Amino acid sequence: DPPPPPGPISFTGTKLVNDRDHPWRPLRKGDIRGPCPGLNTLASHGYLPRDGVATPTQIINACQEGFNFDHSAAVSATYLGHILNGNLVTDLLSIGGKTPKTGPPPPPPAHAGGLNVHGTFEGDAGMTRADEFFGDNHSFNQTLFDKFVDFSNRYGGGFYNLTVAGELRYSRIQDSIATNPQFSFKNVRFLTAYGETVFPINLFVDGRQTERKLSMDHAAAFFRDMKFPPDFHRAAQPSSAEDVEKVLEAHPWLPGNNADGQLNNYVADPNSADFTDPCSLHRFVIGSVQELYPRPTGILRRNLIKNIGYWYTAAFAPAGCPELLPYGQL
Ligand code: HEM
Repeated sequence: DPPPPPGPISFTGTKLVNDRDHPWRPLRKGDIRGPCPGLNTLASHGYLPRDGVATPTQIINACQEGFNFDHSAAVSATYLGHILNGNLVTDLLSIGGKTPKTGPPPPPPAHAGGLNVHGTFEGDAGMTRADEFFGDNHSFNQTLFDKFVDFSNRYGGGFYNLTVAGELRYSRIQDSIATNPQFSFKNVRFLTAYGETVFPINLFVDGRQTERKLSMDHAAAFFRDMKFPPDFHRAAQPSSAEDVEKVLEAHPWLPGNNADGQLNNYVADPNSADFTDPCSLHRFVIGSVQELYPRPTGILRRNLIKNIGYWYTAAFAPAGCPELLPYGQL
């Protein structure tokens, strides 16, 4: 059985996390990394299995322990990724590409393909990862990181902060509208794209530091090298997407996509999930899950019901969203 998610950690202050028990190590042959600099770093320091394949429980514990990522965000993001991209029979998720290490894949169209799968959790207009259309949606991209540095110089005095986040987020959207005919920026991606711009401020800044700004050395350590800076202390209180609304307010924008596969043809989608309706993400993802798993039986059905239930309880029950039960109850 997939176990229920672990609870919050007991000590939630800052502490040294780049410690002797969690040394950074270079990748070995076969180790998997993916589009998320947070999870990549946790794996390269051994907070997650170093091969990059983990259970939801391991991911939730590692994010809390290593970054002080708050419990509810950890459970919500982990089950979102696991339900869409994980192997629900073996309870294993790859933080990057598809691998036999997660066990036999489910019947198509489900894929258990890991976090690299485009259009599920991973999406367009990332800060340091290129769009799938250009051929690699998950590796660190130096050209994009140069833009990250340039914007930090222009808007943040050489540091990444909330002002930079607002400008860079908007500019990356405009880049994709102009260059990616397949550009899609709605539902899961609309929400995560904004959230990810504040994670570097809330979680990559040393917890002993009072100014909320990230140096370029430290940014390169996380995004490129998957490494905590020397002596890195995690956030001083449980944190996740605080101030995400300020990034959207800097350049208000609607979910949508380049229609008809045409450049410079961004059309808003009024049916997309967004920040105004906290239940919209749940409805959208349950719809996607039903497409992936039209008629699950046996262990697969049981585990779908359990995982969807764990996700609902953490992410949507607190907002009073109606519970959707696409596969009934156990
Ligand atoms: C991006 C998954 C936790 C920081 C991503 C992406 C995925 C992902 C799939 C790629 C989205 C895209 O840009 O297309 C997850 C999952 C988590 C998690 C399943 C489970 C809890 C964290 C944590 C941090 C973090 C704890 C920070 C400490 C980031 C950042 C990006 C990102 C900064 C943006 C990368 C960029 O745009 O260049 N994450 N993540 N994530 N994640 Fe995570």
